[in-house]
Amino acid sequence: MTARDAAVAAFTHLTDDAPGGVWSAPGRANLIGEHTDYNDGFVLPVAIGQRTYAALGRRTDRIVRVASTFADDAVDVRLDEVPALFDSPADRQRVPEWARYPLGVAWAALRVAGADPRELCGLDIVFASDVPVGAGLSSSAAIEGAAASALNDAWGLGLSPLDLARIGRAAENEAVGAPTGIMDQVASIMGRADAAIFLDCRTLETASVDLGFAAAGLELLVIDTRVQHSHANGGYRERRASCEAGAAGMGVGALRDLSVDDLPRAERVLDDVTLRRVRHIVTENQRVLDTVRALRERGPRAIGELLVASHASMRDDFEISVPELDAAVESALAAGAIGARMTGGGFGGAAIALVPADLARQVTDAVGLAFEDRGFIAPLVFPLVPSAGARREA
Ligand code: GLA
Repeated sequence: MTARDAAVAAFTHLTDDAPGGVWSAPGRANLIGEHTDYNDGFVLPVAIGQRTYAALGRRTDRIVRVASTFADDAVDVRLDEVPALFDSPADRQRVPEWARYPLGVAWAALRVAGADPRELCGLDIVFASDVPVGAGLSSSAAIEGAAASALNDAWGLGLSPLDLARIGRAAENEAVGAPTGIMDQVASIMGRADAAIFLDCRTLETASVDLGFAAAGLELLVIDTRVQHSHANGGYRERRASCEAGAAGMGVGALRDLSVDDLPRAERVLDDVTLRRVRHIVTENQRVLDTVRALRERGPRAIGELLVASHASMRDDFEISVPELDAAVESALAAGAIGARMTGGGFGGAAIALVPADLARQVTDAVGLAFEDRGFIAPLVFPLVPSAGARREA
């Protein structure tokens, strides 16, 4: 059964009725530009083919009920409680973890739209997804994007795509408590088929950048290492703090304000660890700009070295890779990939590899063998299909 059919079936099971509509939003993979988003920098993500579906129907009472195929119980809240649901971090605990994503979206949507819940109706929303969870492919942005688009239409909130992305990030930061940037939500809402989204995280301006992988005889593979990660704790938060310390040490508001020409000064004024964190962000921003230019002027075969340099910077300077991600990148390159890097927040999750289409099988097998040799769990390797962002399905 497809995830879309699963959402409809679960909705019907829960309510004994057909949904009034179905919305969906994809996960994402980042082509390049890692940990740059919360430094006001540049990113170049791609929406993937796997999506989260939200089947929605109106209720006659004033309850908002969310349910999903990945949790046993539905969660009910009174519509009038939604505007204060996550006002303090302690409130989070009253809501089961998965439900913080869609209910966090409802909470943030009412705030951003300035909507009065007394003028809205109760809803049932049921989610199903084929986005791998914990793989660094933003299953969280997919549920946020699906919930935000469904609520925007059902409640007639009139929010723009950028508003929907901001709402998703607010849910993630304030309702879930993961201190992430806005890249994943922008990719999930605004993705385009066969294109990447170039986002300036300071101005929130976006531009679509054609990829043309198939036309160039290339395929982009996702290598899910199946090492689970979470950004609500630990390393992600720590890296963010180092970046803030680096910006303060260099006397700038955000690391975006530095260029590679500032690195000699950074070497003089920062401690070794902070210097390496800063160097990753500064060089990564430049690599995003170089990748956009290479794609536009020379085509996708020209970006391989930039992907490889990005991985090295995350492994050595930002220190967010893990042995499984390094093995995925190294074995893919050795088997003929023209570029490869870990993607997403790090500490597990997935890598991407850009491969000549006729070598895709060979690269997949080589990565599998490399994992077997090292005693790692078998990875899941599949082609990434750059896809459209959030939309109404039916
Ligand atoms: C996670 C976060 C994003 C971004 C990436 C790293 O996916 O959700 O905001 O910071 O990590 O680039």
